[in-house]
Amino acid sequence: MGTKRAGGATTVKKEIVRPLISSAKIQKRIREMGRQIRKDFPDEPILLLGVLKGAVPFLADLAKQIPGEVTFDFIAVSSYGKDTRSSGQVKLNKDLDSSIEGKTVLVVEDILDTGLTLQYLLRILQQRKPKHLRIAVLLDKVERRIANVHADYVGFPIPNEFVVGFGLDYAERYRNLPHVGILKLPTAD
Ligand code: IMP
Ligand code: MG
Repeated sequence: MGTKRAGGATTVKKEIVRPLISSAKIQKRIREMGRQIRKDFPDEPILLLGVLKGAVPFLADLAKQIPGEVTFDFIAVSSYGKDTRSSGQVKLNKDLDSSIEGKTVLVVEDILDTGLTLQYLLRILQQRKPKHLRIAVLLDKVERRIANVHADYVGFPIPNEFVVGFGLDYAERYRNLPHVGILKLPTAD
């Protein structure tokens, strides 16, 4: 990204990602979560329902840490507005491929922030009569909660900062980072 200056010079505006949770810590925690999830549902096939796109890295690693029968499906939602803050209005962009009726479903999300996205999703999914409906999030920004949503499995509670990496984006970028960091935007000059 660059900004054209009057003289024709382009300055690259530096965004800085300050490390918050290392890749090793994330992987260790995901191993623990996978074991716990299987312990809670010892004999059942588990359908991991990933919320596109942010949940993809977390879902991919979590799935490998849950022994036994596991399948995937994906749903895509978007909040209106391009702000770094969730606007609270949610739209379903891609529905699931298959029915979840009678299944043990684990919704996998990158982050629980205001909770409005998951509240909307849970309402839709509950109507489809799954046997169990649980939530796993990598990150939980507890302070920001508006909706009364509780995650059954939480990787890490985090402070009220805008974070990127491991699926989390800023304008679609940084999802590929193997760690999570706090994004510092350049100050206007
Ligand atoms: P909620 O509806 O406010 O809980 O927000 C859920 C969505 O907002 C997440 O799935 C993310 O896409 C996005 N989001 C919330 N906080 C952050 C953040 O710190 N970094 C990147 N995306 C975020
Ligand atoms: Mg998201």
